[in-house]
Amino acid sequence: MKKALVLMMTLLMAVMMVAGCGGGDKKAPVVPAPKVLKVGTEPTFAPFEFQKEGSKEFDGFDMDLIRAIGKQLNMKVEILNMGFDALIPAINAGNIDVAIAGMSITPDRQKAVDMSDPYYVSGLVVVVGKDNAAVKSVNDLNNKGIAVQIGTTGAERAAKVPGAKVKNFNTNAEVFLELKNKGVEAVIIDKPVAEYFLATGGGKDYAKIVGDTMEAESYGISLKKNSPLTKEINKALLDLKKNGEYDKLYAKWFGAVKK
Ligand code: ARG
Repeated sequence: MKKALVLMMTLLMAVMMVAGCGGGDKKAPVVPAPKVLKVGTEPTFAPFEFQKEGSKEFDGFDMDLIRAIGKQLNMKVEILNMGFDALIPAINAGNIDVAIAGMSITPDRQKAVDMSDPYYVSGLVVVVGKDNAAVKSVNDLNNKGIAVQIGTTGAERAAKVPGAKVKNFNTNAEVFLELKNKGVEAVIIDKPVAEYFLATGGGKDYAKIVGDTMEAESYGISLKKNSPLTKEINKALLDLKKNGEYDKLYAKWFGAVKK
């Protein structure tokens, strides 16, 4: 009889332990804090990344997109402002996890870092002064001054123009200012950025786009070579395309739904 009682009590205690009922005090379930996704960008590239005047807030298509990706991955997005040519070194030094900066997918970059699937199709254009009748395309720029952002595909394209005097700047604000001040004949920059700059007033009074779109390029997100995150980012991109979120952001910034 005594033995049976001991056995029953032991069983009861075991059941209580397994069930974890510590006398009814309900503790909130422990939710692990979201991991931080450290993002680098260079924010003089509206409408992809920019800071409104007097604000440190990051705005733009890329910024919305990476925040949406962060949500998909349950990660807290932290955005850091750096030079465009510092982004890939920062990835490789482990200072940031990803860079999103309207960065074109190129074979050279793909050697240095992982790049996600493309998320935006772009290209380069020539921008000149509004009153410039002599320059009708890139072929008219031989031996002329061209302003570009350092480390960009625009800078690479300018370097191929025979005899061109290429002036490299850290920010696109300086690039356009140089054109405004007539320090150069032209700027080579991404088409959607030039269009936005002209449409939103920035360069409306003094600049225009000439010639055809050059070098079809697609933007991708960069990560450290062989990062396990690359697959996850591609999956998140695909999910955002499937659930309509990507189209929403595209329409918000470019005024039409991506076909
Ligand atoms: N698409 C060009 C490139 O990859 C220019 C990108 C500039 N981006 C920026 N956020 N400033 O080289």
